[in-house]
Amino acid sequence: MKVSIIGLGTVGKSIAEGIKNDYDLHLSSGSYEKLNIWNRSGFKTYKTNLENASNGDIIILAVKPVNAESVLNEIKDYLHNKLIISVMAGISIEYIKRYIKDAYIARVMPNIPMVIQKSVNAYCIDRINDEYHNELLKILNDFGTPVEIKESYIDAVTGLSGSGPGFISIMMDSMITAGIKLGIPKDISRYLTIETFLGTANLMKSKNIPPSELRDEVMTPGGTTIAGIYELEKGNVRTAITNAVEASYKKAREYNKQ
Ligand SMILES: NC(=O)c1ccc[n+]([C@@H]2O[C@H](COP(=O)([O-])OP(=O)(O)OC[C@H]3O[C@@H](n4cnc5c(N)ncnc54)[C@H](OP(=O)(O)O)[C@@H]3O)[C@@H](O)[C@H]2O)c1
Repeated sequence: MKVSIIGLGTVGKSIAEGIKNDYDLHLSSGSYEKLNIWNRSGFKTYKTNLENASNGDIIILAVKPVNAESVLNEIKDYLHNKLIISVMAGISIEYIKRYIKDAYIARVMPNIPMVIQKSVNAYCIDRINDEYHNELLKILNDFGTPVEIKESYIDAVTGLSGSGPGFISIMMDSMITAGIKLGIPKDISRYLTIETFLGTANLMKSKNIPPSELRDEVMTPGGTTIAGIYELEKGNVRTAITNAVEASYKKAREYNKQ
């Protein structure tokens, strides 16, 4: 199948890297010169989105939301009965349907681990046939893991998994700094922190253990972990994290309304 990607920034490039071995890729972006590297590797690149979209069976829209209107106006006559996958934050399925009524539309909220093809890809669909549904899942699996959601959850998902890597980075940065404060060399503190996050996440995932159960397991009465957890609770970490996710959700909702 031919896939046209429009917009080769962080997201477009990550998707292209993830799917390039499975699909015949067609590419267009803001600056044609920036596509040279893809052109030299044998991928088809175009000066206009119109030429690009006219070639694809599946169209991936990875431009900024401010460019949505002009790009959709440019390509709308070449979208009939095709699958459109949009990653544009704040652009609803309803909005895209104003330009094209008979396309199959999927809206996706990825997150930054997409750059190593490890994004968690929340997606919602309007109507879709079996063939396109299979292709959609294949594409989403190629650069991460798909999770189907209702479109009404999309702002909350933006707050949770979209912004989540930013929140987790703050926690990790604090732990690395704490390790340094206690005399652990910087590179070792960093390594220990990263492996602790990876190991804990993998354990929870592979054994399906709820976080509260894991916490109880490492929390010996009167021991070292409960001494630290007490300080986290005193610092209102749970409230701060809940508020952070909610603030991001509210901002996404505000953008969507605009
Ligand atoms: N980054 C994230 O973590 C993330 C997460 C979830 C969703 N998203 C969404 O994904 C979309 C892309 O984000 P991004 O981070 O990849 O942005 P980005 O790095 O700024 O990439 C946008 C790309 O679109 C190109 N472009 C600009 N105008 C265009 C036009 N008229 N036609 C075709 N291409 C055009 C730009 O080209 P030039 O650079 O040459 O101008 C650039 O390569 C956004 O809608 C964003 O909301 C991003």
